[in-house]
Amino acid sequence: MGEYGWINDPNGFIQYRGRYHLFYQHYPYGPVWGPMHWGHAVSEDLVTWSYLPVALAPDRAYDQDGCFSGSAIEKDGRLYLLYTGHVLTGSGPDEYRQTQNVACSDEGFVFAKLPVNPVIDIAQIPPNASKQDFRDPKVFQSGAHYYLVIGSNDCRRDGQVLLYRSPDLLNWEFVNVLAKGEGRLGSNWECPDLFRLGGRDVLLVSAQHVGGDALHNLHSAVALTGKADLAKGVFETDDFQALDDGFDFYAPQTTLDDKGRRLVVAWMDMWESAEPTRTWGHHWAGAMTLPREMILKDGRLCFKPIREIEKYRRNPSAWHDVGLDGEIELETGGDSYELQVTFEAGTAVEFGLKLRANETEETVLAYDRAQKMFRLNRDRSGRGPKGERRSAADLADNRLELRIFVDRCSVEVFIGEGVKVMTARIYPGRRATRVKLFSKGPCTVRSLRKWDIVTRTIG
Ligand code: FRU
Repeated sequence: MGEYGWINDPNGFIQYRGRYHLFYQHYPYGPVWGPMHWGHAVSEDLVTWSYLPVALAPDRAYDQDGCFSGSAIEKDGRLYLLYTGHVLTGSGPDEYRQTQNVACSDEGFVFAKLPVNPVIDIAQIPPNASKQDFRDPKVFQSGAHYYLVIGSNDCRRDGQVLLYRSPDLLNWEFVNVLAKGEGRLGSNWECPDLFRLGGRDVLLVSAQHVGGDALHNLHSAVALTGKADLAKGVFETDDFQALDDGFDFYAPQTTLDDKGRRLVVAWMDMWESAEPTRTWGHHWAGAMTLPREMILKDGRLCFKPIREIEKYRRNPSAWHDVGLDGEIELETGGDSYELQVTFEAGTAVEFGLKLRANETEETVLAYDRAQKMFRLNRDRSGRGPKGERRSAADLADNRLELRIFVDRCSVEVFIGEGVKVMTARIYPGRRATRVKLFSKGPCTVRSLRKWDIVTRTIG
């Protein structure tokens, strides 16, 4: 089992019996979305993953057209998966129904769907919620109860999250509509997640069809911070923010590991955007982001790349105190590496980097002084989707710190200790491996460190 087929959302992200398990939306027969299965991979360190056999296939009356997204929890030593069964009821766009189901495994490898399925049927959808969009259960335990947050909408105007409660993962009662978009965050919410972080409650949703300027992408992963009352089933929102200011970060899911880290991983892609890998004959399409640790700092979410990635650094190089006015090319390049750069802005009006560059291609990361905007431009990034994303970022002590992970077809930029992150798929040519620094007006590169990142996936 190597890379084959299609993947989208991360599912069932959990640390179980000492290893990280990640399931994912998967079509095993080609690089396109199709009847969804749950793919399965395990890892000791969140970087090197081994594929395991498909965990769920759409083979029951209640999930015959797809085992849609969901989550995992350990109970009495067993691993339980809670997922959405997707069933087509006709050929129209709204002719489907979705129910919640449970599968269980004694050791985390082979899963049996439970005879009681579905555990939440459409009869348990409250009157003010869509009878079609009812999916992506995220399970957690609090006190004597298990809870599920489930994505929904109030019949096509507003995204919303439904809260259900159970004593045993099998019998569920509806508690309340936990949160709603109030007209500002899209027409449907997918893949909710609810957890405590830094003394606050955080509700993640993947909002579909978000209009206006609040978020950059048509579909956007958003974090609401506030206070959850599980007994009443009410989430009071104080603030919201995009989880990532780039192009390709959707359907994130989190887990809490035994080191106390709240880890998040997302599908590094976006619905309704070009996916050139579908037609390249590689027979696979889709990837996950680097797992990130989430931290709440001054009321805002920050993101750190997991430290385990540092074990995979090879071939270090470093520069210090290099004056820059114009463009220089580094002697080192590559297509999978980590870069840490600290710019001191001087009097430059704009400065930054060009990555995965050759004569005709480049991915531009630039800081615009006047606008106080960091921008990621992939107009010349090769054969994939184009465009630019901007993220408001202040300089601290006149400095800009960046931590950048470049891979064959992606770039993930952590700005200023992860107060902002920008993720993008890029599809440059194989020989587009150069790294350039540039500045309009004088600035200083206080430090630049680079490592190749050398990983291996065991198939
Ligand atoms: C999010 C999503 C989920 C659904 C899954 C289907 O990307 O649309 O709501 O469960 O993908 O693959």
